[in-house]
Amino acid sequence: MLIRGLKTRVTLNARVENPRYPMRLCFASNNAHKLDEIRSLLPAHITLLSLVDIGCSEELPETQHTLEGNARQKADYVRDHYGVACFADDTGLEVNALHGAPGVYSARYAGPQRLAADNLAKLIQELSGSADRSAAFRTVVALSGLPGQATRTFAGEVAGHIAEAPRGTGGFGYDPIFVPAEGDGRTFAEMSGTEKNQISHRARAVAALISHFAFNI
Ligand code: IMP
Repeated sequence: MLIRGLKTRVTLNARVENPRYPMRLCFASNNAHKLDEIRSLLPAHITLLSLVDIGCSEELPETQHTLEGNARQKADYVRDHYGVACFADDTGLEVNALHGAPGVYSARYAGPQRLAADNLAKLIQELSGSADRSAAFRTVVALSGLPGQATRTFAGEVAGHIAEAPRGTGGFGYDPIFVPAEGDGRTFAEMSGTEKNQISHRARAVAALISHFAFNI
């Protein structure tokens, strides 16, 4: 089932500036696209560290069957093994005609090799002849390791539909076949990073995370 959640339009220049509390925060990823997306959204007093930056080279455990479970598992793992405050995300593309698939299994939809091109091809194939191409990207971010605070999660979502064929060269993953409903008919991969960040699932989840920072650190 798709959860119709946050509909916030994320304003990039609405940064939360709080120079009194400089902090280092790990984002549990080495995905350069995601790190760039998130770095551009975070307030200036937070220094974002990648997994490489904290010396973590092992694969993080991701064995749960929900986006929330996986995000929590990854953030808690980094807190427990590296002693740093950390947030982790997990994203799924939920297609209505496929009863929410690939969902939490989006990365390995076409097999354990986790290849974006294979995933796109499989999804287009599965939807061939389907009149209903509606879908939504959903991201859950889990934040772990802030002093005195239990792990908590923040969600973001964007609705749209799956294009008949891939279009565009920007972004990553399923971006070439996802057309957001709030856009002008272009896929995410045909938009600039700034345009994607104004409406994307991850930007909305990170916006909720940033509001939490504004009031809790
Ligand atoms: P993960 O949460 O990073 O493991 O992502 C799960 C799957 O969704 C992977 O196949 C990613 O490539 C894909 N994905 C995650 N975020 C995005 C996005 O913003 N655009 C397109 N695909 C994404």
